[in-house]
Amino acid sequence: MTVAYASGKVILFGEHAVVYGQPAIAVPVNQVQAQATVEKGPAGRGITITAEDLQQSYSLDQVPANDALRTIVVGTLEHIGVGTKRDLTITVSSTIPIARGLGSGAAVSTAIVRALGQHFGSFVPPQVVSNLVYETEKIHHGTPSGIDNTVIAFEKPVYFVRDRKMETFSVESPFLLSIADSGIASPTRIAVSHVRRAWEREREKYEELFDEIGTIAEMGRQAIERGETETVGRLMNENHRLLQLMGVSSPELEGLVEAARQGGALGAKLSGAGRGGNIIALVTQETRSRVDMMLRVAGAQDVIVTEVS
Ligand code: MEV
Repeated sequence: MTVAYASGKVILFGEHAVVYGQPAIAVPVNQVQAQATVEKGPAGRGITITAEDLQQSYSLDQVPANDALRTIVVGTLEHIGVGTKRDLTITVSSTIPIARGLGSGAAVSTAIVRALGQHFGSFVPPQVVSNLVYETEKIHHGTPSGIDNTVIAFEKPVYFVRDRKMETFSVESPFLLSIADSGIASPTRIAVSHVRRAWEREREKYEELFDEIGTIAEMGRQAIERGETETVGRLMNENHRLLQLMGVSSPELEGLVEAARQGGALGAKLSGAGRGGNIIALVTQETRSRVDMMLRVAGAQDVIVTEVS
């Protein structure tokens, strides 16, 4: 039996604007993980997939060709060159909350690619993993930028521009992010299509917002490379203000962002598609427990802390 894992992710700067060609920064979150196991299945049964958390189990040829799990399995087996006429049992599970901006779909697909690669003794390079997973992201999210599959496949902080080669960068002074779950679903497809309609109505306003967010992502990268943590926090606040203007925040997210700032966070913003999902707050060893407490009092369903390094 082969087991492989993939981490979650958060977007530090640039969500939504990244769909329109602006740069964005995302980092892996390895406190939450997806897991895939692959083992030889009963003879003649073909490929069976079990999604443990969803209590679903099905044979690959029972589902339509555009099923995300089927797409990733078929794409990977074809890439490895072993074909799909196999008897395999694939089991997936995940501790990454679904539809909260933490990349759960991309992580499950990534874990499957890795597990199949290992099972057949074939190394699948991160860029290939990312490309394979992007096909499933399109099924889940419509017109995704590709940032989720990239950061999860490479497992490094990424500076991402759509349709360009992924870049990583150095983190001069590692820092801590508190990630607080509003408990409200944040379906990427809906938020992205809302922004698209708004952009179609008010192109000038939205393009200005996208440009400003792109500049913040650029400045954010420089601040991280220079170890200017306070500037990173300030830029997070600024990015959040622009996301508010874009219409993707919500009263619940505002409550969490405000609570984090009152608790002493150096900066806070919504992260991912918005409307629900998570907020992230830049904390230190000194402020993390107070921020944690404030976030929970403000209604966070869960708070995890991850180090960006
Ligand atoms: C979702 O994690 C981030 C968005 O920018 C969508 C995308 O990049 O595809 C909202």
